Amino acid sequence: MNNDDPKLLVARGYDKIGGTYGRMATRSRTLQRNRYETVVLDRLPEGSKVLDLGCGSGVPTTRRLARRFDVTGVDISEKQVERARLNVPNATFVHSDMAALDFAAESFDGVTAYYSIIHLPRDEQGPLLSAIVGWLRPGGLLVCSLGTHSNEVDFDRSWMGAPMFWSGFDSDTNRKMVEESGFRIIRAREETTSSARDAETFLWIIAERSAERGAAS
Ligand SMILES: C[S@@+](CC[C@H](N)C(=O)[O-])C[C@H]1O[C@@H](n2cnc3c(N)ncnc32)[C@H](O)[C@@H]1O
Repeated sequence: MNNDDPKLLVARGYDKIGGTYGRMATRSRTLQRNRYETVVLDRLPEGSKVLDLGCGSGVPTTRRLARRFDVTGVDISEKQVERARLNVPNATFVHSDMAALDFAAESFDGVTAYYSIIHLPRDEQGPLLSAIVGWLRPGGLLVCSLGTHSNEVDFDRSWMGAPMFWSGFDSDTNRKMVEESGFRIIRAREETTSSARDAETFLWIIAERSAERGAAS
């Protein structure tokens, strides 16, 4: 990777390939995606306030969540936010780095982040999780996918046609990071995509804001 800011690189990358990625997302990894969308749909009551971090172009996940919930999507790519506004007119979208957000305490019932925190430099992932704890009401739900291997800088000069950056920890470190941020893990499971052509493994986390934090604050 050259000296580019990884976040700028990611934002520009999705500006360019986000439409293609969105079409691919409706066809691949569908088992995991459906499973973890359903977790959110089953666990939160209709009308819940849900924050979708790294929402992309809004398809298919934000759109499905927005049929039942009051969804705010956030993305660092300006073009992705434009696509999402067109694809999901009944949700609210914010163009921002997820690590730079500032929401009122306890303003969400649930937070989702599918295939997005993995693009954040790993030293920012723990602080982001701590911030999410603050934005969630007590008992609020987090469903997200994280990496499974320790890699501070993972760079591809042409991923789907654009330079791309990822970063992350191994699964055990990720579990610990989630708990130390103030969550109670309900389930943390490594899931491998069924397609042999692009088999990839992610650590899928289902967690809730732990009661201790509420008691302490
Ligand atoms: C692999 S796509 C996933 C999109 C969607 N969540 C899904 O499940 O299909 C990752 C998205 O996260 C966004 N993203 C990456 N880093 C981000 C950051 N620091 N803040 C906000 N969004 C970010 C990218 O722009 C991209 O749209």
